[in-house]
Amino acid sequence: MTTLKVGVIGAGSISSTHLQAYSIHPEVELAAIADLNEGRAQEKAERFGIPHIYTDYKQLLADPAIDAVSICTWNNTHAEIAVAALEAGKHVLCEKPLSQTVEQAQQVEAAVKRTGKLLLVGFVRRYSDQVKLLNKYREAGAFGDIYYAKASIIRRLGNPGGWFSDKERSGGGPLIDLGVHMIDVCWYLMGKPKVKSVSGNTYRQLGNRSHVEGLSFYQAADYDADKKRC
Ligand SMILES: NC(=O)c1ccc[n+]([C@@H]2O[C@H](COP(=O)([O-])OP(=O)(O)OC[C@H]3O[C@@H](n4cnc5c(N)ncnc54)[C@H](O)[C@@H]3O)[C@@H](O)[C@H]2O)c1
Repeated sequence: MTTLKVGVIGAGSISSTHLQAYSIHPEVELAAIADLNEGRAQEKAERFGIPHIYTDYKQLLADPAIDAVSICTWNNTHAEIAVAALEAGKHVLCEKPLSQTVEQAQQVEAAVKRTGKLLLVGFVRRYSDQVKLLNKYREAGAFGDIYYAKASIIRRLGNPGGWFSDKERSGGGPLIDLGVHMIDVCWYLMGKPKVKSVSGNTYRQLGNRSHVEGLSFYQAADYDADKKRC
């Protein structure tokens, strides 16, 4: 059996989902992990028995034995790391969003074409039971020609704080975080049509509700639950 040697870049919350899945896959060997925060990388390496730890992802990419990487870092680094990984000859599973700008996404697309390597964006909701079922109906033609789709999502539990609300690391608010999943599900279920134009509105109306008594406790508990659902 051929084994795929995988490296994981970014050792925060979502990396656990990647690491858990890789660790039980019979054809995958977890080869290395990288994070700017060495302690985090160390902790995950110990938990999943990963032999190599790096604080610079470029060192991980320099290992010719690694076939593929997961990119589990903040949004502002996805495109840069994806291009570097593809150029280093690795297949890539990149967390959503692919990038913060269209130009960056086009750079990644060009790198995929140049290198012939595979890249998948972590749009996990395509693989939910509901979407799989709807997709079966679509493939069977049960919906006829789909010419209109509408989806909505609301982050009910407030601003999660941390890097999510840091414009530099996130690049946006709920739209770039959860909205991309909804846009992807619509596009996917419509049969991935070629997009002619996109328009949208974004708003900056978030209030600072830190004065509301008990809110920080409420948010911390519900934020954990919310993240599990993402
Ligand atoms: N697919 C989903 O449904 C889903 C769910 C949750 C998060 N995500 C995505 O996963 C990404 C990470 O989210 P998180 O909640 O795990 O964040 P996190 O802050 O818990 O972890 C990110 C880690 O990346 C590290 N990092 C950042 N830049 C780095 C670099 N240049 N080199 C090495 N390490 C670097 C940080 O030190 C941190 O440990 C985000 O892009 C988010 O949108 C996707």
